[in-house]
Amino acid sequence: MMLKDKVAVITGAASGIGQATAILFAREGASVICIDDKPGRETVDLIRQEKLDASCYHADVANSEQVQAVARECEKAFGKVDILFNNAGRSLKQAFEATTEETWAEMLGINLTGAFLCSKYFLPLMKKAGTGSIINHASVDAFLGNPAIAAYAAAKGGLIPLTHVMAHDLGKYNIRVNCLSTGGIRSAMTAPLGAAYQSRISVTPLQRMGTPEEVAYVALFLASDWSSFVNGANLVVDGGRTTITQGTYRG
Ligand SMILES: NC(=O)c1ccc[n+]([C@@H]2O[C@H](COP(=O)([O-])OP(=O)(O)OC[C@H]3O[C@@H](n4cnc5c(N)ncnc54)[C@H](O)[C@@H]3O)[C@@H](O)[C@H]2O)c1
Repeated sequence: MMLKDKVAVITGAASGIGQATAILFAREGASVICIDDKPGRETVDLIRQEKLDASCYHADVANSEQVQAVARECEKAFGKVDILFNNAGRSLKQAFEATTEETWAEMLGINLTGAFLCSKYFLPLMKKAGTGSIINHASVDAFLGNPAIAAYAAAKGGLIPLTHVMAHDLGKYNIRVNCLSTGGIRSAMTAPLGAAYQSRISVTPLQRMGTPEEVAYVALFLASDWSSFVNGANLVVDGGRTTITQGTYRG
């Protein structure tokens, strides 16, 4: 049990990597708090079927009032938070010239401001725990020039220096802050790619997409005491895609 007696908040837990991580963290002993702006209790039901502990809250991570309201509810229900996985995210393909101000604001809101707001408003609960681990979910798009995702890439790129500064500023509370930069994973986010999966696979040395569970295990490492001296790191989980020079895809 790597997370016995820990309380873990996971945003974007209704599907994909967030759901896989919520299930894994619960199996490792954590009380899991799932946050998503999508209605639905599937993740919580799956966890409770295994007689493990989970609850879910509906909130848009880019909405300060909603995040603050969930943090207040969690304070009442749990009194502390040990782990925060800022995983909620959404991407939108739009060529740079077609990128609207609305898309820009939306992508930065969900993918970057959301991590800031959740970290800011759950921090008092993490300080109560006396120790903690925050994981920001970036992407290899933060450092690869992939086509038609300027707003998403810029937002994910912002998470890396945010992680560095938070790691510096929160270390004194024994709260570690790390980042995951993930490559192509099979999930609802990448499902619309269809045939374009192949172009991701062709630039991935492992020659396949990853699974949500393969990211969840890395998040577990960062969440647990096994990574107790890892702070401010950006861990790349991409099947080797960023190690090769032709690390981009078509379409
Ligand atoms: N799938 C990939 O290839 C890939 C690659 C790199 C990074 N990522 C990142 O991994 C994270 C999880 O993505 P996934 O692949 O599991 O996709 P997914 O679509 O299955 O899951 C994303 C979840 O986030 C939720 N969400 C989106 N906006 C939200 C908001 N404003 N407030 C609350 N919840 C919100 C969605 O409802 C959904 O449940 C995202 O941050 C994504 O950017 C994914």
